Amino acid sequence: MNYSAKVMDHFTNPRNVGEIENASGIGEVGNAKCGDIMKVYLKVENNIVADAKFKTFGCGSAIASSSMATELIKGKSIDDAWKLTNVAVAEALDGLPAIKMHCSVLAEEAIHLAINDYRKKAGLEEFEYKGKDGHGEINEK
Ligand code: FES
Repeated sequence: MNYSAKVMDHFTNPRNVGEIENASGIGEVGNAKCGDIMKVYLKVENNIVADAKFKTFGCGSAIASSSMATELIKGKSIDDAWKLTNVAVAEALDGLPAIKMHCSVLAEEAIHLAINDYRKKAGLEEFEYKGKDGHGEINEK
């Protein structure tokens, strides 16, 4: 399987690994088929993603996807962070092999859950998220 240089870079040197204490929102997803789990932590200030971190127990593509996805949402408004799709994550990584696209779906889903967790805690209405058919299973955190 051929991975882009960017995937290899974000896999071997992932950005934003770790947890955020007293996070504004947390999202955790798992994929039932491969068993991989991803957890995303957000710190939100003035409706902006001030910080984002992740813990991924999964394959290299899942680690690279969570690294890139957290980089892409940092500094963005919650509304813009919500719009991040798995396809945009994969494109920012210069592509993922077809059978590894579900790894980027985990990143999209974990971010959506973390945003809604934040909104719930802040007393805001949760955004509607339908998820991706047949992919990541949304777990309770
Ligand atoms: Fe399942 Fe990568 S193989 S997340």
